[in-house]
Amino acid sequence: MYIEAHEVQEVANAMMNMLHEDELEVINNFYEAVKSKDIEKIDELFTALLAEMEVHFKTEEDMMEQNAYPDAGMHQSDHDLMRKKLTKFHKRWEVLKGPKEVLNFLDKDFKKWYTAHVAKWDAKAAPLLG
Ligand SMILES: [Fe+2]
Ligand SMILES: [Fe+2]
Repeated sequence: MYIEAHEVQEVANAMMNMLHEDELEVINNFYEAVKSKDIEKIDELFTALLAEMEVHFKTEEDMMEQNAYPDAGMHQSDHDLMRKKLTKFHKRWEVLKGPKEVLNFLDKDFKKWYTAHVAKWDAKAAPLLG
């Protein structure tokens, strides 16, 4: 297992926890596909992951806007950072189909970012988003 459920901090907002839980399944399936260099499966799950992450980020951003959350800008910047990386690696994947590069990104960067983002930005926003 790439990211265990307990490694993703539970936050004080049911909607956010649900988004994270749903996404974790796609993330872990994606990781398995990348590890086993299953090109077809990576193609399919990379697209699914991008869609899932966008729903996750956009839902949180809408919730922050609706609740006039004061740190929305900084929280969104951290989403944007990962949006850019995911788009970049997906574009490179489309051309190179290189699982090694994707695996390296998942091992060295994505997991650390994901768990830290939830623990820092999501946990801070959660109680103020209704
Ligand atoms: Fe989140
Ligand atoms: Fe977030």
